[in-house]
Amino acid sequence: MNSVLGANLKLIRLEEDSVLSSFDCGDSDLNDFLLNDAKNYLQAMLAVTYILKDDENIVAYFCLSYDSLTRSIELTDVDKALWNKVGRKIPNSKRRRNYPAVKIGRLAVDAKYAGLGIGRIIIDTVAIMYVSEKHHAACRFITVDAYRSALTFYEKNNFKYLTSKDIDDDRRAMYLDLKTL
Ligand SMILES: CC(C)(COP(=O)(O)OP(=O)(O)OC[C@H]1O[C@@H](n2cnc3c(N)ncnc32)[C@H](O)[C@@H]1OP(=O)(O)O)[C@@H](O)C(=O)NCCC(=O)NCCS
Repeated sequence: MNSVLGANLKLIRLEEDSVLSSFDCGDSDLNDFLLNDAKNYLQAMLAVTYILKDDENIVAYFCLSYDSLTRSIELTDVDKALWNKVGRKIPNSKRRRNYPAVKIGRLAVDAKYAGLGIGRIIIDTVAIMYVSEKHHAACRFITVDAYRSALTFYEKNNFKYLTSKDIDDDRRAMYLDLKTL
């Protein structure tokens, strides 16, 4: 895998026999998912979890699943404009109502490592996975249902909003066009 990881950081795919040490990102649901549920999702073929480790600790984790970036059936003028931005870099003849994507289902950095650029490294790593590596299926976008508290983080990593309908929600649908990197 091409990588933007530093020498002492390793990216490991969670397997059913992986041994998990402690992890605390400050959000109990995200902590609990990694320690108690990630293997169930792997077994159910619903999400693959990747763990970023340094020599001793779990630094961060994220989950990936295939997704589709889909146009809502009824769009307000504002949402029509947002949807038009999705396809702006796609030739007219190839524009459609949905596009292949990969979803970052969960992303969490241990509080000890927050603010050190690890989150950005993870976004870059996922982008490299899908831009540089050969996959069986095409994938044009990264999607995320971003926590309200993390919206600025995703904005700073070039994610765009898909709709204005979720503007007051706890989570907002965002996407990154891999072809614009
Ligand atoms: C949100 C999270 C993933 C960010 O990871 P991180 O490693 O701390 O972020 P980085 O250091 O890579 O930050 C990249 C940029 O985003 C900004 N940023 C990071 N987290 C932010 C936040 N919560 N709010 C606003 N800006 C944030 C940083 O200031 C930095 O900006 P800069 O380049 O202008 O300096 C991490 O704080 C976390 O795990 N939080 C708890 C769980 C969570 O909310 N996950 C998101 C689920 S959708």
